Amino acid sequence: MKSSIKIGIIGFGTVGTGLVKILLQQKDLLLRRLGLPLEIASIADRDIERDRGIALPPGVLCTDAAKIIQDPEIDIVVELIGGTDPAKQYILGAIEKGKHVVTANKALLATYGEDIFQAAAEKEVDVGFEASVCGAIPIIRSMKEGLVAEEISAIYGIVNGTCNYILTKMSEEGKAFAQILQEAQDLGYAEADPTLDIDGADSAHKLAILANLAFGTPVSLKEIYTEGLERVSSIDIDFAEDFGYKIKLLAIAKAANGEIEARVHPTMIRKETLLSTVGGVFNAVYLVGDSAGEVLFYGKGAGSLPTGSAVVSDIVALARNIIKGASGRVPATAFTTPSRKQLPIKAIEEIESLYYLRFMAEDHPGVLSKISGILGENHIGISAVIQQGRKTGGHVPLVMMTHRARERDVRQALSNIDEMDYVSEKTILIRVEGDDE
Ligand code: NDP
Ligand code: HSE
Repeated sequence: MKSSIKIGIIGFGTVGTGLVKILLQQKDLLLRRLGLPLEIASIADRDIERDRGIALPPGVLCTDAAKIIQDPEIDIVVELIGGTDPAKQYILGAIEKGKHVVTANKALLATYGEDIFQAAAEKEVDVGFEASVCGAIPIIRSMKEGLVAEEISAIYGIVNGTCNYILTKMSEEGKAFAQILQEAQDLGYAEADPTLDIDGADSAHKLAILANLAFGTPVSLKEIYTEGLERVSSIDIDFAEDFGYKIKLLAIAKAANGEIEARVHPTMIRKETLLSTVGGVFNAVYLVGDSAGEVLFYGKGAGSLPTGSAVVSDIVALARNIIKGASGRVPATAFTTPSRKQLPIKAIEEIESLYYLRFMAEDHPGVLSKISGILGENHIGISAVIQQGRKTGGHVPLVMMTHRARERDVRQALSNIDEMDYVSEKTILIRVEGDDE
């Protein structure tokens, strides 16, 4: 009979310190919920001199992660260093030693999740990854267990706190992009390399994990069409407002007719929708099931304590299994391995959407009709047009909203339009989610 559950933590940064604070502060609560104490046996980090504002008993901190993996006393290894190497080696090493693993590392899981889950199944240990998607929101456990009866047909997620923080501040306070990104970094929301947030890669990692759980199919990152915030500017945020929309970086996955759509890009959504009201570091995931219908999850998507809380939830889930001598009770990918299918992912050219198009066009008669003519030749109908005096040099923004169109046709039309002399720069395209009006 065990007297405690021993935990080894690799990585004592933003999430690691949040985790340790919660384990120490909520010791009594967690004991009442688990029945055994959770003991921090060891914490490894490259830098153990830095003051992290937490008092630890002597000998807990070390610089050698291998020590944690080799320690026969440790039951659960928590990986919180990020990146793929050496995180993958540490996790596989811990599994090889028969230890259960918790990780918040979505970049690793989106790339090597299948290898890790297979190794864990072979060694009959569990891998918890609640913190890898949407910080404090218990979306992983909900998809694996609470929504087990649901055939999920669509996921729309605001899954990156940094990007949502930036878009919210740009829209509400008109602050400059670089200044807001620095704030997000200071608050511990951004990845060690914030390009992963800004270019949409972090959202794609999370979408790969969610789509896998929703549809029972491996989802390759390479097949997720990904755009980040690079081309979103305040002028488009203002035009979106004029049309009654907000711009959000959405991770979208849909399943229909044995095919999947999986894409991440800035998206205009109607101001009346709940998702459009999700601001700052908050995340939300809107799922469509068949019996449950629409379900919305909302909470803090990043930061030390919200993410630390999700890590603790995995530790307790695994500790409960250890106490009961169980493992592999809930499949890591929500479906049993033999029942998973490789479903094809649609190329972005094949999707259909509504589109917001902003041309920078010469302000003289005939230009509007030339542009709308090319759109018409490519089967693209226009539902609204704005041409205002927001002058930028000799060209003015000409904005159009389209009816539902095929992306292949839109791309063809834009490549023709962007070659014309009366257009000064590459047209801005933002997909619009919603019904045709
Ligand atoms: P941090 O960079 O704040 O912390 C990581 C810590 O691990 C740093 O102290 C780092 O040291 C240390 N480290 C890196 N490599 C090693 C190594 N080989 N051995 C020992 N220590 C090492 O990152 P976060 O805490 O923000 O993120 C950790 C993980 O959690 C990542 O996978 C991230 O994607 C994920 N995550 C983060 C969230 C957040 O809000 N921050 C939310 C959800 C998930 P050094 O500083 O010297 O590099
Ligand atoms: N950098 C991530 C974000 C952390 O901003 O959402 C949470 O996964």
